[in-house]
Amino acid sequence: MKNYVVFISVIVAFGGLLFGFDTGVIAGTLIFIQPYFGLSEVALGWTVSSLLFGCVLGVLMAGKIGDKYGRKKVLMLAAFLFLISSIGSATSKMVLVFIFFRIIGGVAVGVASILSPMYIAEVSPAKYRGRLVSLNQLAIVSGILVAFFTNYLLVDTGINNWRWMLTIDAIPAIILFFGLFFVPESPRWLVGIGKIEKAMAVLLKTSKDSEATLRLEEIKQTVTVKEQASYRDLLSPKAKRILWIGVLLAIFQQITGINTIMYYAPKIFAQVGQSNDSALLQTIAIGGTNLVFTVVAMLLIDRLGRKKLILLGSAGMAVMLISLSFLYFQNITTGALILVFVLGYIAFFAASFGPALWVIVSEIFPNKLRSKGMSITLVSLWAACIGVTIVFPVMLDVFSGAATFLIFGLICILSFWYVWRFVPETKGKTLEELEKELIK
Ligand code: BGC
Repeated sequence: MKNYVVFISVIVAFGGLLFGFDTGVIAGTLIFIQPYFGLSEVALGWTVSSLLFGCVLGVLMAGKIGDKYGRKKVLMLAAFLFLISSIGSATSKMVLVFIFFRIIGGVAVGVASILSPMYIAEVSPAKYRGRLVSLNQLAIVSGILVAFFTNYLLVDTGINNWRWMLTIDAIPAIILFFGLFFVPESPRWLVGIGKIEKAMAVLLKTSKDSEATLRLEEIKQTVTVKEQASYRDLLSPKAKRILWIGVLLAIFQQITGINTIMYYAPKIFAQVGQSNDSALLQTIAIGGTNLVFTVVAMLLIDRLGRKKLILLGSAGMAVMLISLSFLYFQNITTGALILVFVLGYIAFFAASFGPALWVIVSEIFPNKLRSKGMSITLVSLWAACIGVTIVFPVMLDVFSGAATFLIFGLICILSFWYVWRFVPETKGKTLEELEKELIK
């Protein structure tokens, strides 16, 4: 694999880092912004999920403008929005202003969540595509971990601590913005707008010289300039099948409950009677596990394949959640065993569904429809994420922790069955080969 591909993928993965930071930072600030703005539990729920509504908007926008203006320019726009959101939310004095800037941040997260993995998939050689796209997930979880960690370090800096926590985001935003000047456009998008020579120049830099011409020919066969795809094309029976796979996988990634733990961890730990400080420390343990096991996934994903990985992960997650629920049923809600199962659950998610979802959804759509197909898929992902975030506290209240974790465990089993029955394996083939195979 050429170092150049790694270099440009790392820069673009800063989009993932910002995605992770923005979604992760809120967990540690909750305990401070709630009293500062005088928020009820319900208002707090809305304040947390405001970012997620922005994500839906961002993904919807990115599907169209990513096709029109290219992946790179739109990612630059996202970097700029990340910057504005960070400074705006950190300096806000009224909750509505705070929510407004969190929504702007959400738009940026939404755009990055679609364009970063899509771009990396479009410049990667088939053999390493799984690993390279997973780099984006590694960046997401690093972003979450950086957020948890900086939150922890800044916790004792006085009443403005949460403002500092939010400001940190400006640094990766600036790196992404300027880094993108060193990144070329996606060759697959360039062919789509008729810039064949430019596409060839990029392919020569990203693949072996002997392969570049072949790749270009393959891409040309799948993209015709005159014939721009529309959302309606996704409704043809063949495309619809792929769309369903993307949408359901995205929903499963969320409803297996990962963000109940990612977003609410410090609050859950604080509720079981620990100080804010150690709650944040435990949250860092969660972020660290997430990071380490994402690396495990990166080592396995191009060898084992995406499907086996998700199957293993779903099974492991189910076991962990059902064990957790068992403890809760026995009224054991604190202690080492709880932490073991929580961390075990995170580890299985990180080694499987976390990265593999992003890899698969960047691969299954044909060149012409990728942007729009991913857009609908990721709207479903963010909508499911909103649903879980809003419903989780209510579930805890109504059903108790035991039943809540049991429900998430059963959903993992359902996800296992779905993936086993319906999801195709995509490892090792070029995007054009996949296109021929899946849209027969
Ligand atoms: C998921 C996010 C989640 C993150 C945590 C991503 O793959 O889409 O919702 O917060 O992983 O690791």
